[in-house]
Amino acid sequence: MSATAHPRQLMAADIQARKGAEKIVCLTAYTTPMARMMDAHADVVLVGDSVGMVLHGLPSTLGVTLEMMILHGQAVARGLSHAMMVIDMPFGSYEEGPEQAFRNAARLMRETGAGAVKLEGGTHMAETIAFLTKRGIPVMGHVGLTPQSVNTFGGYKVQGRGAAGTRLARDAQAVAEAGAFAVVLEKVPASLADRISAEIAVPTIGIGASAGCDGQVLVVDDMLGLFTDFRPKFVKRYAELGSQAEAAIAAYAAEVRAGSFPAPEHTFADEIKT
Ligand code: KIV
Repeated sequence: MSATAHPRQLMAADIQARKGAEKIVCLTAYTTPMARMMDAHADVVLVGDSVGMVLHGLPSTLGVTLEMMILHGQAVARGLSHAMMVIDMPFGSYEEGPEQAFRNAARLMRETGAGAVKLEGGTHMAETIAFLTKRGIPVMGHVGLTPQSVNTFGGYKVQGRGAAGTRLARDAQAVAEAGAFAVVLEKVPASLADRISAEIAVPTIGIGASAGCDGQVLVVDDMLGLFTDFRPKFVKRYAELGSQAEAAIAAYAAEVRAGSFPAPEHTFADEIKT
């Protein structure tokens, strides 16, 4: 049987090998049906801690727990056979030090089957990234706007403008040199994303960054237009499912109230016709 007839699920090494070559397509997913829909189209499916805000109505990602990540990770894993699954380490599960990070990353991978974890932070996380990667846990880095640091950033602002760009480039370099197989660059100026993409040896995955990155990631609910009231500049909406869903719900409510649903074709006869 040829490898192409039954291609195996992508792994960190496959993604890393795409540096400067074929673009890497990445989307978030939190459920089995969504993962199934994207499996044939995406290279990487990220079980992002954005799940807290997107599905659970939390005000930030800080309230997301390891248990939530595991539950959503298990659901996503059931929908994937081709795309690699990466799972976010939630706030508080890795920052104490390499041992804590290893313990929790191992649990995430063991209980979900993820191919890698993602964690936020630059130079200060390099030691932890090296510790994990040397012990069999592939790590995707994440620098720039790291949402778990929203309280120290004072909001979801563009990071790395002006002189801060050099520090951010150093962060990306440190994460890559520590052994990350790819690095997410979130909400940074396009010129800085291009510079980092040229400088570091592993693929960059942009979100609010630049088309010059080696790949792109978006939160799937954002690009499907599932939120009618959330329109960040860096999100291109490929559909308007939120307004379609609202219109469908309103039509259903009107028909129930009018007594026109269910119609005869939605009901069952007393006897089966032969
Ligand atoms: O949690 C998430 O969805 C993410 C991506 C937006 C990169 O970290």
